[in-house]
Amino acid sequence: MFEQLVGKLPVGIGVVDESFNVVYLNDFFLDRLPHKMRDCYKDTPVVELFQGQGKFLKRRLKSVFVLQHPSFSYWEQRPHIFPFKSSRPITGEETQMYQNMEILPIKDKKTGQRLACIFLQNVTAQASYFRAQQKLSEALKKEHEAQRKLIRKLDTAQSQLIQAEKMASTGQLAAGIAHEINNPIGFVNANLNTLDQYASHLLAICDGVKGQIELFNDELKEQIDALFESNHYDLLKDDITELIAESTEGLTRVKDIVENLKNFSLETAEGMQTVDICAICNQLITLISAQYSAPQYKIDCEKEKVEVMGNPGPLKQALMNVMINAAQAVDGKGFIKLTVIDAAQSVTIKILDSGCGIPAKHLKRIFEPFFTTKPEGQGQGLGLSVAYTAIEQHHGKISVSSKEAKGTVVEITIPKAPAAPAPSSEENETEDSQTV
Ligand SMILES: Nc1ncnc2c1ncn2[C@@H]1O[C@H](COP(=O)(O)OP(=O)(O)O)[C@@H](O)[C@H]1O
Ligand SMILES: [Mg+2]
Repeated sequence: MFEQLVGKLPVGIGVVDESFNVVYLNDFFLDRLPHKMRDCYKDTPVVELFQGQGKFLKRRLKSVFVLQHPSFSYWEQRPHIFPFKSSRPITGEETQMYQNMEILPIKDKKTGQRLACIFLQNVTAQASYFRAQQKLSEALKKEHEAQRKLIRKLDTAQSQLIQAEKMASTGQLAAGIAHEINNPIGFVNANLNTLDQYASHLLAICDGVKGQIELFNDELKEQIDALFESNHYDLLKDDITELIAESTEGLTRVKDIVENLKNFSLETAEGMQTVDICAICNQLITLISAQYSAPQYKIDCEKEKVEVMGNPGPLKQALMNVMINAAQAVDGKGFIKLTVIDAAQSVTIKILDSGCGIPAKHLKRIFEPFFTTKPEGQGQGLGLSVAYTAIEQHHGKISVSSKEAKGTVVEITIPKAPAAPAPSSEENETEDSQTV
């Protein structure tokens, strides 16, 4: 009865001697043997009967005989030791059987012979369930990752929209204000010039009188002297020229601001035409090198000419603003590298500087009109917002990455043909970066 029970158990039970020859097999194993072998399997090497993973099985058996310790093999590491078939639950699809195997050292009580008992469990059901779960969780993970990416993209898109909205309204406002301010600036400027001339005439008259003072009689001389003295003529004379010069300089600054503000407006005087980006860069290098304490410029471009369809004025202005920022950031002590990349659909200009860099808290604000960290007179905080408007007009992209005390890279991409959709650049993973 006991032998019958062992024979019918739904697990594989086999006994092998030290030469790896089979001593006993229960029905689980026998049913999976070719018919002709079922009666004469005894004393046959186990790996000859079941030609699965013979080497592995032998190694395991050997270790059990030598160490006299049980050995366990789990389906995940070694799924199919014996070449048996099994059907999957639910689908019923026939597949290779997934197996857990345990080998135990035993001893024949009568003869003292060392033997090994192989237990084999069919775990196809658990394995296929586990695999299905694994696949499902991988798919979920992928979906989760895709969602995260989407959320990041949405975040970027939202901040771009907010920025664009801000720029659009500021742009209109700025253009309006610029127009209004232009008229008074015009007449104040003209009046100031006239005033300058009048002042020099008046001074010439007074100086003339002073020069001829010896010709007057004593009483008149005294009176004239007193008049000059009581009106602080010497002080007045020095101050008047200085005051007018200062006012003219102030007015020039106001004119500069207004000029920049006007660039916010979408009016484009020159219209679309072929623009050579390399030529612009070279012109700007000459221009800026003359003004800023000679930063070392390097331009890196495979071609001599890289053309886009664009509006030369705003494009030049955008590049100039970015390059001036770079020159101001290096302050004569570093280098600026310009790279022009000529791609099939677009042109990318990278302006890299080894300057002071931008702290993360400022990076968020650099495109805001009037945001500046520079001392009065050096920056109006309009450079990048003007550049933004110009690049947006061209359906391009401008992005800034920076590391404090290391430097900054501004990347501008402009599609070659204006009708082409703005190129989507790879997602920028750097933390300190701002794209609009
Ligand atoms: N290349 C750069 N290196 C360091 N800081 C920069 C750079 N470009 C821009 N910035 C920062 O962005 C601010 C805004 O720049 P911008 O709009 O050109 O205005 P402005 O130059 O008049 O301050 C600057 O004040 C500066 O803090
Ligand atoms: Mg600037």
